[in-house]
Amino acid sequence: MNGLRSARSAPVFDLPGWSQARLQQVEQALSRWVGTDAPAGLGEAMRYAVLDGGKRLRPLLVLAARDAVAAADGGVRQVPLDDAALRAACAVELIHAYSLVHDDMPCMDNDVLRRGKPTVHVQFGEARALLAGDALQALAFELLTPEGQAVPAAVQAALCRLLGRAAGSAGMAGGQAIDLASVGLALDEDQLRQMHRLKTGALLQGSVMMGAACGRADAAALAGLQAYGAALGLAFQVVDDILDVTADSATLGKTAGKDAAHEKPTYVSLLGLEGARAHAQELLHDAHAALDATGLPERGALAALADMVVNRSH
Ligand code: IPE
Ligand code: IPE
Ligand code: MG
Ligand code: MG
Ligand code: MG
Repeated sequence: MNGLRSARSAPVFDLPGWSQARLQQVEQALSRWVGTDAPAGLGEAMRYAVLDGGKRLRPLLVLAARDAVAAADGGVRQVPLDDAALRAACAVELIHAYSLVHDDMPCMDNDVLRRGKPTVHVQFGEARALLAGDALQALAFELLTPEGQAVPAAVQAALCRLLGRAAGSAGMAGGQAIDLASVGLALDEDQLRQMHRLKTGALLQGSVMMGAACGRADAAALAGLQAYGAALGLAFQVVDDILDVTADSATLGKTAGKDAAHEKPTYVSLLGLEGARAHAQELLHDAHAALDATGLPERGALAALADMVVNRSH
């Protein structure tokens, strides 16, 4: 499917070239905003959790979706909306980083390695890890609601709604609850899909829709982006399940092989390695089809990010 697609598509999109300046902008903004005035060692734990690591996939999805809708909206870049997109990119990464801090704690997955470093609770203790997660979540919403005219009020509200929905009980937190309740159980495919869509897919889909909210898109484009985000979000966790089996801890920067050790139901335990790989390719195909259906003229970055999600090695 992939082969067919690349045979008929335009010149390959230069994702590293497109990403470079954007990643730099995101890193600088995160470093400026995270934990600088937090007391009693809390800021140190927040910065440790967020800075110097991670693929920054979610920020890149926000910025790619923002680019796609900006290009469709006459291509005139409105600075306040670019500012909103950078805030959204950082906010979603803060929610993601907080989810990782809590996911790694002894009461959840009990992991000691994350992004190539000891996990936050190993480094700073459980109480500070818990608070660092709490504070990162609060900071995400603060970033989305700057004082003054920097970001139009309606855009601020839309971004908060999308992020709250993606992170809460209908999204990441709900999915994590299902994950914990499913240890040792053999979920069927509908149940597993639902768990993955919530615990991981929702925030990735939310990233796309937050980028889209930083601009104007018609109903068809928004529906296509929703479907693209859903397919990419599920594909991401299918590949996370695969890499847990096939990659080593040094490559992943987190402990490999822990899903089977913790009796987690995964796409590999359900479909086998080859079945899971084939399913990831199907979802990639779905993501591209949905993206094509948006009719957005500038969708190269979103397409390349979908390829990256499924073909990544870590
Ligand atoms: C890992 O996400 C946790 C899951 C949601 C499966 P990433 O693989 O995006 O982690 P980082 O941000 O690159 O560390
Ligand atoms: C975590 O899923 C999803 C989150 C919401 C953090 P995993 O537990 O599979 O993530 P990793 O493998 O520890 O990164
Ligand atoms: Mg987990
Ligand atoms: Mg985990
Ligand atoms: Mg995993």
